[in-house]
Amino acid sequence: MTELDITQMDIPPGFIDLGMGNPDIDLLPLDLLGRAAETHFAAGDRRSLQYGVEQGDGNFRRALADFLTKAYGVHVDPGLLFVTAGASSALDLLCTLYTHPGDVIFVEEPSYFLALRIFEDHGLRVVPIPTDNDGLCIDIMVEKLAEFNPMFIYIIPTFQNPSGVTLSQVRREKLVELAQLFNFLVVADEVYHFLPYNQTPPQAFAAYAEHVEQVISVNSFSKILAPGLRLGWIQAHGAVIERLAGSGLLDSGGGMNPFTSALVREVIESGGLEKNIASLRMEYAGRLYALDAALLKYLPAAKYTLPQGGFFFWVHLPGVDAADLRRNVQDYKVDLRQGALFSSQGGKQEYMRLSFCFYGPEALEAGVKRLGACLVK
Ligand SMILES: Cc1ncc(COP(=O)(O)O)c(C=O)c1O
Repeated sequence: MTELDITQMDIPPGFIDLGMGNPDIDLLPLDLLGRAAETHFAAGDRRSLQYGVEQGDGNFRRALADFLTKAYGVHVDPGLLFVTAGASSALDLLCTLYTHPGDVIFVEEPSYFLALRIFEDHGLRVVPIPTDNDGLCIDIMVEKLAEFNPMFIYIIPTFQNPSGVTLSQVRREKLVELAQLFNFLVVADEVYHFLPYNQTPPQAFAAYAEHVEQVISVNSFSKILAPGLRLGWIQAHGAVIERLAGSGLLDSGGGMNPFTSALVREVIESGGLEKNIASLRMEYAGRLYALDAALLKYLPAAKYTLPQGGFFFWVHLPGVDAADLRRNVQDYKVDLRQGALFSSQGGKQEYMRLSFCFYGPEALEAGVKRLGACLVK
C-alpha cells in the first residue's frame, strides 16, 4: 500500500532544504501535549467537545491573557482576545470581513509569500512599500497614501519573514498615528515576537490593539508550540472582536478549535508554554550562530544583517539570480527560497531566504557547504 502524506514537508531523500520555514519536527513537544491531554481528560469536562462560544473558549482566553500580560508587561484583557485556527486563518477571516475584491492593501516589500497568496485569493490589489534596516519605510508609505486608500497594511513587525528585520519603536508609533489619521487598519502579524535571541523587541502592536480600533494583532502557537495545533489568536479593540465573533463562519461553526484550546490552556497553566519558549530560544540561538559561521566559511560573498530573532537569514548575493541558483543547487541536493517569491512585484532576485529552524547545526553547515560548492563551480 502506498503511504499517504501526513505533513506538508516534501523534501527528497538526502536533500537539505535550507529554505524550509517549518519548525524541526524533533522540537515539537509531544510530551507536553500528552501531559496536558491527560490532565484535561481526567477533569471529565465534556464542554470542549461541544460547539464553542464564538470568540473562543473563555478559560483558554483567560490563561492566554495571563501569559500575554506577563510577556508584554502590559495588562491584556481576555475579553479582547479572539481565538483563531492560526495566523493564516486570522488573515483569511480579516480579508473576508474587511475587504472586497479590488480593494487596495499595502504590504512590506519583501513580505511573507504565503500571506500574499491569501490576499490573492481575496482578489486584493497589493501595493508594496519598501523596507530598510528599521523595517517599513514610513516616508514612502506617506507618499503612497496620497495616491491610494488602503483597507489595511499587512506587516510582520518583529523578526520579519523573510528579512529578519524589526520595525523600530519610532516607526511603530508613526504607523499607528497614520492609521488613525487616514483610517486604515494595521494588521500586525506578530508570530515571531516571542522568539528573540539577542535583542528585546520593541513594544508589540498588541499593546496598542486594545485602545486603537485601527490596530489588529495576529499571533499563533505555530512557532512557539506546534503548527499542527492550528491555534492562534487576534488581540484587538472590542469593535473588531465583535465583528469577528459575529461572522457567519463563527455563527455556524462556533468558536475555533475548542478542544485544542482546552489542551493548550493546560500547557499554559502548567508553565509548559514558558518553558517551551525558553528552550526553543536557546536551541534556535545556537542554530543561528551555526548558520552564520557556515555562511562566513563557505559563502563569503553573501551579505546579510545578522537576525536578532525569528527563523530567517535574508541573504544578498550581488550579481546572482537566486532563482537560477535554486535550479542549479538541486544537483547538490540542497534547496533555498529565492527572494522573488517574497516580492509582490517579482523583485528581490538577488536575495535568498535561508532558515535555521528546521535543521540542527551539523545539517546547516553541510547545506551551506553544498551551496558554496555550487556557487564556486
Ligand atoms: C509571518 C508569518 N505569518 C504566518 C505564518 C503562518 O502561521 P500559522 O501557522 O499560524 O497559520 C507564518 C509561517 O511561516 C509566518 O512566517
